[in-house]
Amino acid sequence: MRGIILSGGSATRLRPCTKVTSKQLLPVYNRPMIYYPLNTLLKAGIKEILIIVAPERAGDYLNLLGSGRKFGVKFTYEVQDKPKGLADAFIIGDNFIDEDDVVMILGDNIFEDDLSREIKNFKGGGRVFAKKVPDPERFGVVKFDKNNKATSIEEKPNRPKSNYCVTGLYIYDKRVVGIAKNLKPSNRGEIEITDINNWYLKRDELDVKLIKGEWIDAGTFNSLLRAQNFAKEKMHDKLIV
Ligand code: DAU
Repeated sequence: MRGIILSGGSATRLRPCTKVTSKQLLPVYNRPMIYYPLNTLLKAGIKEILIIVAPERAGDYLNLLGSGRKFGVKFTYEVQDKPKGLADAFIIGDNFIDEDDVVMILGDNIFEDDLSREIKNFKGGGRVFAKKVPDPERFGVVKFDKNNKATSIEEKPNRPKSNYCVTGLYIYDKRVVGIAKNLKPSNRGEIEITDINNWYLKRDELDVKLIKGEWIDAGTFNSLLRAQNFAKEKMHDKLIV
């Protein structure tokens, strides 16, 4: 299993703070934000990690994280020229993924749960993690039937069919690269991870698991503040780096 941390984008929602640095390098209590998703991958024993960054910030990431040796892993860096969508990570990561399975985590996502088991026991297809939230319209929204089986996933629907959103950690088999290459951009001009999830869902190969602990997408000022407080109060004993 190989890992990707998607850490590009322009983070206009966090201006002016992100005018001179990357969102995922902003502090979340006593660590740069990207340390939290990095911890999630390291705990799962992922040794090869691709970090995808925006061109103007690449040097900052290299300065901060280096080769990965100090964490006992190997980092590879790729530049994403434009934020073309989350699914673009698998096109950029084509050579890196090679013939392996891949787990991708968003650089601004903070998970309280230890997801090592779910990452390690992955056996093919796709696997995503859902969480009940008060504002599902901001996210990919998953609907379940009576037997808790996922029946649909919609990206930022005006009328969400449930309160369960798809969080920013995705596990796929190697087919994901070909799937990503065949996607057409959505109305917002991005190739959508939700379309990848629907590809697997349609074939009955998407495993949607619920997460129990806190999950924060730290991409707005309010959620960043929440992440700061959560990290200070609850994350200490859960971090290894
Ligand atoms: O946080 C979970 C949500 O992430 C999911 O529920 C949605 O289905 C998924 O589309 C995504 O929604 P967001 O609106 O949060 O995506 P956003 O455009 O904010 O991008 C998420 C992170 O990925 C952000 O930190 C920047 C980075 N990114 C984004 C894009 C579009 C890149 O590095 N490159 C990109 O091309």
